[in-house]
Amino acid sequence: MTQNVEQIPVGRRQFLTLLTGGAITGVTLAALYPVISYFTPPTSGGTGAGVIAKDGLGKEIQVSTLLATAAPGAHIISQGLTIKGGDATYIVVTEAKQIANFGVNAVCTHLGCVVPFDAGAGKFVCPCHGSQYAADGGLMKGPAPQPLALAQAAVKDDRIVFSPWEGDDLRCTPLWCQKKPWWV
Ligand code: FES
Repeated sequence: MTQNVEQIPVGRRQFLTLLTGGAITGVTLAALYPVISYFTPPTSGGTGAGVIAKDGLGKEIQVSTLLATAAPGAHIISQGLTIKGGDATYIVVTEAKQIANFGVNAVCTHLGCVVPFDAGAGKFVCPCHGSQYAADGGLMKGPAPQPLALAQAAVKDDRIVFSPWEGDDLRCTPLWCQKKPWWV
């Protein structure tokens, strides 16, 4: 049996109208998405050339919350700026309990393991083949050929923004002492 529009109960008619409208809106938005996204700067983690540091769950890290519990000299891993394919970045807390103006990329320069920070020893020790790096990522022991890469870090609106490194690499150890950043 067929029904014309007048015979369809009002509630059902409204439902069908909403359904049709929703479908049209969905198709329109899907078609416009590439255009909209092209003209919209990234917001999730993006601030111009930088990215906002996030925790392991993808939540933006709040500086006030972090500093309330972090010990001086702490290194806290975050999702940060992608350098040479890896975005795991350590936020460095200074002895004065401020966010340092640099972050340390956590990707070992030997074969790419994520390097944990040994707070007791005050250095990074790679679990894969034993490379060691100073608290600022300077190269202390191979087989890693280079120091850990750095990112600029700045605090904005209670968030940490990592951006590409600018300037020289002033870290200098017996194994690596080159001003030109190798990762730039
Ligand atoms: S990957 Fe770190 S020492 Fe080999």
